[in-house]
Formats: sequence, structure tokens, C-alpha cells
Amino acid sequence: MNFENILIKQKDKLATIFINRPKKLNALNKKTIEELHIAFETLEDDSNIKVIIITGNGEKAFVAGADISEFANFSSNEGASLARRGQEILFNYIENLSTPVIAAVNGFALGGGLELAMACHFRIASNNAKMGLPEVSLGVIPGYGGTQRLPQLIGKGKAMELIMTASMIDAVEAKDYGLVNHITSQDELLSLAEKLASKIMKNSSVAIGSAIKAINDNFKDGINGYETEIEVFGASFDTEDFKEGTTAFLEKRTPNFPGI
Ligand code: COA
Repeated sequence: MNFENILIKQKDKLATIFINRPKKLNALNKKTIEELHIAFETLEDDSNIKVIIITGNGEKAFVAGADISEFANFSSNEGASLARRGQEILFNYIENLSTPVIAAVNGFALGGGLELAMACHFRIASNNAKMGLPEVSLGVIPGYGGTQRLPQLIGKGKAMELIMTASMIDAVEAKDYGLVNHITSQDELLSLAEKLASKIMKNSSVAIGSAIKAINDNFKDGINGYETEIEVFGASFDTEDFKEGTTAFLEKRTPNFPGI
């Protein structure tokens, strides 16, 4: 895959996506969002890829937000279309992938950058990371799911404060808030993400995809997550992974999941 604004490295069953506009602090312009969509779609379709890590290239930023220069002159209709398309092809898209996606937040994750990290299945951060949703300081609000996912992750009161004050929090606060799961040095960030990825890869990818769906359905309007759980729990019994997992347990050996 050849892209202008992203790089992808593949190592066995792991793919790492680097957002690669370091001079613009990896700000998400239209092209980058389109490229990320293609990358995620292609990696999801590749049954060999079991985990995806996303991070920013350079030492300063994960993503410093949506590219402000692209929407500075937008009308209300153009603004709504930007948010709708972005949510559809990238943010909701990532959240609903059955391949686990880990955000490795390596610096500024602001606005669309934090929204991107929050759309991933979980987040880890380097100790220089700074996170926030500063949109109201620009006269706009978060448009890529930030008003919904931030309260889901850290609670309504903290989300209200963070969004209203447009403040940035550091990695330690983000961990206290439950926004990131682990903190490490910048040098160790990718190896920590890879370590977590390799733990995930030991398990059934089919079961993991089903668990992601059931967990996400807890947060969807009009959908009963408990019902989803019953459905996908039941469906697990028909998979080869279930046969292998239970057989390996009874035979006292490590399972070798076929992923079907
Ligand atoms: N959109 C477009 N360009 C951006 C950007 C964004 N969200 N964030 C940073 N950039 C660009 C800057 O314009 C600058 O480009 P230039 O060198 O051509 O002038 C370059 O990235 C470096 O940024 P700079 O502001 O010089 O770095 P800094 O270290 O002084 O400050 C930040 C870092 C993150 C505090 C600052 O860039 C910032 O506040 N960015 C915007 C954050 C934001 O509001 N995001 C939400 C958008 S909805």
C-alpha cells in the first residue's frame, strides 16, 4: 500500500500505522482520513493481521487535531458533512472493526487526534503525551465523536470540564481518568504496544471480534448489548477456534487458533 500521509509496517500478524505529517504535527486533513480508511479496510480484510497499532510519526505528536486550515472557511453544511463523513469512514469505522486497534499516543493528541485515539479499542501513552479537546477555543465543538466517547471513557463531569475549559491533560492525569491504560517512556511506547498485541494474538481472533461487538453494543442507542452478548456467545460454539480452545485445554497444551 502506497500512501502520501501514512506509513504501514507489518511484522508477522501485526500492522502498525504511522500517521506521517510530522511537520504539521500529523494534523488530520481530508487526504489522511481517506488514506486511513483504506488502510484500516485493507488490514481488516487481511485475515493474517490480528492486531493493528496506530501512532504518530515524529517525537512531538500523535495527531494535533483536524487540519484547521482545511475547514477555516466552511459553511454549516460543509461542517456537518465533514463530521458525518469523518465519523463514518474513520472514527466509527475503527471502533467497529473486529481486528483490535491499539492507539499508541506518542505526544499531542488534541481534537481529532484525541477523538481518533478514543475511537480505538484502547489507548496507551508515552509520558510526554498531552491530550485534550480544545475545539471550543476555536469556536467549534468536537465533531468526530468527542462529545460522545469522552464521557463514555472518563465520565460526564470530567468530560464537561475538559471540553469547556479546552485544557490539555498530561499522561498521568489521562491514566488517572481512565483515558489511557498504561504509560511508558516514548522509547518504549511501541514495544509496550507490541507486547500487548502479542498477548492478544495468543487468543481467538474470532472470539475477540465478537467481544468487541458485544462491548460496543453497550453504548449503542436502541441496541441491547446483553442480547448481542447472548447471540455472539452462542455463535462462538460453532467456530473452529472454540473447538481448538477447548480441545487444547483438555489436552493440556497451548491452543493454535485457526481464526475461523
Ligand atoms: N491543523 C493544522 N495545522 C496544525 C495543527 C492543526 N490542528 N496543529 C499544528 N499544526 C501546524 C502548525 O500550524 C504549524 O505549521 P507551520 O509550521 O506551517 O506554521 C506546525 O503544525 C507546527 O505547529 P506549532 O503550532 O508551530 O507547534 P507548537 O509546538 O508551537 O504548538 C500545539 C503545538 C499542538 C500546541 C499547536 O500546534 C496547536 O495548538 N495546534 C492546534 C491544536 C488544536 O486546536 N486542535 C484541534 C483542532 S479542531
